[in-house]
Amino acid sequence: MSRTRIGLGLAAIGRPDYINIRFNNTIDKSIDAFKNNAFRILDEAYSLDIRDFDVAPSYGLGEQFLLEWNNSRDYKDVSLSTKFGYTYVANWEVGYKGKHEIKEHSLSKLNEQWAISKAFMPNLNIYQIHSATLDSGVLTNTDVLSRLSELKERYQLKIGITSSGPEQTKIIEEAQKIVFKDKALFDSYQVTYNIFEQSCHTILKQLLAEGKSVIIKEAMANGRVFRNKQFRAYLNNYDYLDNLSAKYNVGIDAVALRFVVDNLGPTIVLSGASNTNHLKQNLKAMSFELNDMELSQLKSFAISPKQYWQERSNLEWN
Ligand SMILES: NC(=O)c1ccc[n+]([C@@H]2O[C@H](COP(=O)([O-])OP(=O)(O)OC[C@H]3O[C@@H](n4cnc5c(N)ncnc54)[C@H](OP(=O)(O)O)[C@@H]3O)[C@@H](O)[C@H]2O)c1
Repeated sequence: MSRTRIGLGLAAIGRPDYINIRFNNTIDKSIDAFKNNAFRILDEAYSLDIRDFDVAPSYGLGEQFLLEWNNSRDYKDVSLSTKFGYTYVANWEVGYKGKHEIKEHSLSKLNEQWAISKAFMPNLNIYQIHSATLDSGVLTNTDVLSRLSELKERYQLKIGITSSGPEQTKIIEEAQKIVFKDKALFDSYQVTYNIFEQSCHTILKQLLAEGKSVIIKEAMANGRVFRNKQFRAYLNNYDYLDNLSAKYNVGIDAVALRFVVDNLGPTIVLSGASNTNHLKQNLKAMSFELNDMELSQLKSFAISPKQYWQERSNLEWN
């Protein structure tokens, strides 16, 4: 069995709306209900041996919930990751029509968000640039990069990037070139990879071989792996996923996560579960293995990154 760990991401847990295809949109969206739910999921996750938790300042109250949980439980064996670069601006307004998060990769934003996130120490293990892109200029911003290098040295953190969009491979290649005192700045790469978007496969394998942490997000393609009439091009894919789900007696979610584990073998694959039921179903990914024939069939589901990210940008927040 692979040594990939399942981690829990808080993107859907700390704010009332998220960019997912939600089949159940009738949940209580009050702050109290979300906070109770967050604590329930975090406790359940810990009891199910999850030790890796990923958050960001833009996940609404996600950082606050995780911080309160971390302080109150006082576990010594959890590994937390957070990010800088996006600010949540929807102010818990359900159905908010504007942009929910604003991107800013400046040194002042880094310092402002670090001042809050540093409270996760000593359990903070990875500090990441949230959605590093070529056009944001963050990978050539020496003020930001030197500050990250300083934080890395001073607090013994791993420094990482997260990437999104059709140019993920190029972004990773640029990030790999950044060196401080003869050492690569980035130790960790959080990347989108799933049955439809496999364009980073080769470079991720290379990073793993170099001993870097590879964290996979969006293993369920924001819900697009689940049968949905909106995505007619995937109908044959959905039939095949149904067969695997029946064969292994697990949900499509577990098949999608298992594909990542067996095909890539990353350090961590994130579950984006928003309730304990989904979390338990997601963890069934660790109960079986896909065979070579099944893997090669699932590999053939990949679409072009351009098409994948175009489709993602058309998804709504709900
Ligand atoms: N740029 C970045 O840095 C970035 C971007 C995205 C994600 N992330 C990280 O990755 C983490 C993982 O989240 P994700 O967005 O990647 O989510 P994901 O795993 O791609 O997708 C979660 C989707 O799957 C659905 N789902 C999960 N389990 C299910 C089940 N058993 N049955 C039915 N539906 C199920 C969820 O529905 P419900 O919503 O109804 O649960 C949701 O629509 C995030 O929390 C975050 O930490 C980072």
